[in-house]
Amino acid sequence: MNLNKAIQNRHSTRRFTSKKPDWRDIIECIDSARYAPMAGNIFSLKFIVVNDKEKIQKLADAAQQHFIAQAHYVVVACTNPSRTINSYEEQGGKFCRQQAGAAIQNFLLKIQEAKLATCWVGHFVEEQIKKALQIPEDIQVEAIFPIGYELGKTEKRRKIDFDSILYFDKYKNKKMNKIKTLDV
Ligand SMILES: Cc1cc2nc3c(=O)[nH]c(=O)nc-3n(C[C@H](O)[C@H](O)[C@H](O)COP(=O)(O)O)c2cc1C
Repeated sequence: MNLNKAIQNRHSTRRFTSKKPDWRDIIECIDSARYAPMAGNIFSLKFIVVNDKEKIQKLADAAQQHFIAQAHYVVVACTNPSRTINSYEEQGGKFCRQQAGAAIQNFLLKIQEAKLATCWVGHFVEEQIKKALQIPEDIQVEAIFPIGYELGKTEKRRKIDFDSILYFDKYKNKKMNKIKTLDV
């Protein structure tokens, strides 16, 4: 799939059909996370593919978002921050969060390419997710992703205007300085 198309067509889906995705397609999407940039090339993420219906229900309860329970699979992205924090001390925590986002975006674009659907779920009671999946205390749960096929058509969210996010040379300066050219 063309990269621009994948970026522009990616969207959150909260309604899934009853069709079960092929788990191999999901594994392939997770594999794309390995190619994300990582501080010091220390890979800090782990992914848990959850297939068990009871566990999926517990994840939906932990998030208080019941559409999650419609999905046949839920992918849970976690961070093991220890090596990054050992290398970068107080900066390490921030780096882990940032690189989790980079890895997750790779994953989301591959989900789009595979014609699967998901929604980044970041609102949940972390302790409940950890309990359901036996995740150790020192591991952070970044996000959970119910995976399925989109039911119907989701209306795409309006995106922010480009003009409102771009500055030149200093914060809030909206005009680019004229590029000086040498007369020859
Ligand atoms: C960090 C983060 C946390 C989010 N948490 C939730 C969530 O708990 N539940 C949910 O339905 N959507 C959640 N979303 C999805 C956003 O609502 C969605 O990305 C946004 O509305 C833009 O829509 P789009 O993804 O279709 O472009 C989250 C997204 C991000 C990046």
